[in-house]
Amino acid sequence: MAEEKATAKTSVLLEETRIFEAPKDLAENSNVMKWMKEKGFKTEREMRLWCSANYIQFWGEMAKTYADWFEPWSSTLEWKPPYAKWFVGGKCNVTHNCVDRHAQGAKKDKVAYIFVPEPTDQPTQKITYAQLEKEVNKFANGLKSLGVVKGDRVMLYMPMIPQLPIAMLAIAKIGAIHCIVFSGFSSGGLNSRIMDAEAKVVITVDGFYRRGKPLPLKPNVDEATANTPSVKNVVVCKRTGVAVPMKEGKDIWWDDLVAGKSDACECEKMDSEDRLFILYTSGTTGKPKGIEHVHGGYQVGPAQTLHWVFDVKDNDVWWCTADIGWITGHSYIVYGPLVLGATSIMYEGSPDFPDLGRWYKIIQDNKVSVFYTAPTAVRMLMKAGDSWAKKYDVSSLRLLGSVGEPINPEAWMWYRNTFGAGKLPIMDTWWQTETGTFLVSPLPITPLKPGSATFPLPGFNIDVLDEEANPVPLGSGGNIVSNTPWPSMLRAFYRDPERYQKEYWSTYWDIRPGTYLAGDKAMKDKDGYFFIQGRIDDVLKIAGHRISNAEVESALVSHPKVAEAAVIGKPDEVKGEVIVAFVILRTGQEETEELKKELAKHVRTVLGPVAYPETVLFVKDVPKTRSGKIMRRVIKAKALGKPTGDLSALANPDAVDAIPLI
Ligand code: WTA
Repeated sequence: MAEEKATAKTSVLLEETRIFEAPKDLAENSNVMKWMKEKGFKTEREMRLWCSANYIQFWGEMAKTYADWFEPWSSTLEWKPPYAKWFVGGKCNVTHNCVDRHAQGAKKDKVAYIFVPEPTDQPTQKITYAQLEKEVNKFANGLKSLGVVKGDRVMLYMPMIPQLPIAMLAIAKIGAIHCIVFSGFSSGGLNSRIMDAEAKVVITVDGFYRRGKPLPLKPNVDEATANTPSVKNVVVCKRTGVAVPMKEGKDIWWDDLVAGKSDACECEKMDSEDRLFILYTSGTTGKPKGIEHVHGGYQVGPAQTLHWVFDVKDNDVWWCTADIGWITGHSYIVYGPLVLGATSIMYEGSPDFPDLGRWYKIIQDNKVSVFYTAPTAVRMLMKAGDSWAKKYDVSSLRLLGSVGEPINPEAWMWYRNTFGAGKLPIMDTWWQTETGTFLVSPLPITPLKPGSATFPLPGFNIDVLDEEANPVPLGSGGNIVSNTPWPSMLRAFYRDPERYQKEYWSTYWDIRPGTYLAGDKAMKDKDGYFFIQGRIDDVLKIAGHRISNAEVESALVSHPKVAEAAVIGKPDEVKGEVIVAFVILRTGQEETEELKKELAKHVRTVLGPVAYPETVLFVKDVPKTRSGKIMRRVIKAKALGKPTGDLSALANPDAVDAIPLI
């Protein structure tokens, strides 16, 4: 049984004194413990240290354990900083490991996905590995008939329905590269990504459900592809039946594309380093970065971490509540669980439809045993109170997880008590789109502290450095870095090698070349526990979604009445942060309440609901450096009533006084 060793007097992170041991039976029977025993490791610490010191050997073993290879690799790692090649010379295909080998083996009748539609009058759908294989193959043959070949980019813009993983796996099977755009982005966000990727085909749906109401999605694609010559076809999956215009010769219904297609399709034999997908994510500038991941290494990381951290076993029902449009969904709804041959829940809708009991009900009805969600959702449910949870039986759960932003100790405790009957461990996993998989995280054997992602995982060499590249002493903070490469790391930015080098590798290059700068701050407490503190750059985390300040600003400036804009994140009890925009209007424009609403709506139209500014404020000026860079940090400090620090570098210090409190 779980043990609480000490009671917290305070929730101030570094003074956190509560330590929660894992339930003994869980720890003893865990996948990681089994491996430790086989290898003769006595303690968790000893095991973590050995795996990290011998990371090349470790990952070589993991790559053989978790994936089948058409041809073995000749060298486990070639590392020419900042470029890593893993499993060099190996031939594989991630779809073989996700689908074919299960469908053709003992797991053929095992359920891969339990799909729960948002409308409550539509039945839950179970898809076995054998069925998944057929659907993937038919769609892969459909794509081939459109002329999609190895290396082509295919854009996906879809809600959470089974056709999304089916399409991803089909694209991977034929060696093409998928790029998913979260369906909470609008046509503007989709357009810029299609342009950058020069996608040949876009796959979408007629419409999707939002709180039980069918809404059209296809028109966004029509707008987004009006000026994209690379796009030859748009494949439309019918989800809601809402009427949408179809362009003769370009648009094709999914059902028509797969009609009469064979349900057999050979995997393209991919080189380990061949690209699997591009996922656009936000950085410091307004231009999204196309993060590239590869077949070989990426098929190892998510599966291995899901097996070790979340202890997923053959009889588990795994539920990761993320959207597949983000990395969490890529790695832990699609690739990780499928490589393991696990059963996953895929839920189409929002946590509060038709009411706040929906998630508990899904857990109860499907006997979910391992559950992974984001702090923002935990806080939303916490705010709604325990009464919803009490209506349902969630005792099938045995392990919990959190991702996307720091989880505050209060939410951590509530999550543990409500979902976890006061005893289940919470795996607080720290990672990024770039990393492909967890880097800092507990294992189910790790003594936990609320709000801490605990320690670097086995096989990683993660540290916290000061500005001079010295590891910080225990009890203080700095930049999180990785000192060594790992298999599921990003390989590059799509067609932008310079930015790749600059963003992650330049900071410590002169002192310690090959040090990966993650872009987050962290503190290590006296026991070496990591407490993640958020981004060092101008990247927002709105309800766990990664959005760049600059992207929202450029959406605002694209409005004809706006001259300039500065966007900051304001702390929010539920969403972590919300967007506040300070807008300078063009000369002669009137500052009205109407216009504030119009501008917020404009951002929704250009970028999507995911980037909706909660507050728009008009100002005459914003503080800038002499080189013209907007000082968001100063604006934020002033707006939140905090000390603004040294203002001597500003070109216009007076602008600070005019920033209102928010
Ligand atoms: C933040 C999401 C604290 C962090 C997987 C990181 C976290 C960014 C955690 C990446 C966590 C993610 N605790 N912060 N457990 N997990 N983050 O690319 O700031 O959407 O850099 O990947 O989310 O966001 P991304």
